Amino acid sequence: MNQNWNAEKYSSDFSFVHNYGNDLIGLIDTANVNTVLDLGCGNGVLTNSLAEKGFSVIGIDGSKEMIKIARSHYPNIKFICSDATDFVLEKPVDAVFSNAVFHWIDKSSQSCMLKCVYQSLNSNGQFVFEMGGIGNNKLIHSALSNAFAEAGYEYTMPFYFPSIGEYSALLEKEGFKVRYAVLFDRPTMLKGDNGLLEWIHMFVNNPFLSVNPNDKKIIIDKVIKSLYSDLYRNGIWYADYVRLRMKAVKE
Ligand code: BEZ
Repeated sequence: MNQNWNAEKYSSDFSFVHNYGNDLIGLIDTANVNTVLDLGCGNGVLTNSLAEKGFSVIGIDGSKEMIKIARSHYPNIKFICSDATDFVLEKPVDAVFSNAVFHWIDKSSQSCMLKCVYQSLNSNGQFVFEMGGIGNNKLIHSALSNAFAEAGYEYTMPFYFPSIGEYSALLEKEGFKVRYAVLFDRPTMLKGDNGLLEWIHMFVNNPFLSVNPNDKKIIIDKVIKSLYSDLYRNGIWYADYVRLRMKAVKE
């Protein structure tokens, strides 16, 4: 994952990410599950929700800033700063949970991450996750790509949004059995009059690294204007999210 997080702003203005994640926790079949790893735990809000359900939990995240916040808010939970594609647990767990993380990992590194998850699970362990699925934020990324081209730059898509078929194949290759998969639209309200602008500033950083600040402003202004008719409704900005939610097991 290659993103520097503004961890405080993420926690205050993008809380919908973990609010939706609470619903995902319900996909864990609680029979015989005591220990859960929250992979890509961010600020630890969902790790804490898992703990409140009675699980013994560990949170892993690659961002030092996020781990610092998670530890300060939930001092009784064990949080480890580690890369999701390269970690080993001292003891395997009964379930691995992850919300809104895997789309940040390059396609080429997904199998390393899945190997780590597989090794971290006990037999009959459950792997429950949600990520952006195929078509996620398609309007936003198309608008960015067009505006980059008009300004003389090339837009490189910074996320991996797979289909059910593609991700099932990756899971099966690492030994998982897929038990549940669903791909669904979730238009998501953004906070404030500058909701889309703030979303782009928070989440789309790497494509702008080689763009000069003046051009960046021109590109973002164009994107916002071009998306107004599709994504601004009754005074609220929406992001065109598509979720891929899956459950797989290590038999
Ligand atoms: C997502 O949760 O799908 C997502 C969030 C931020 C950037 C890209 C995707």
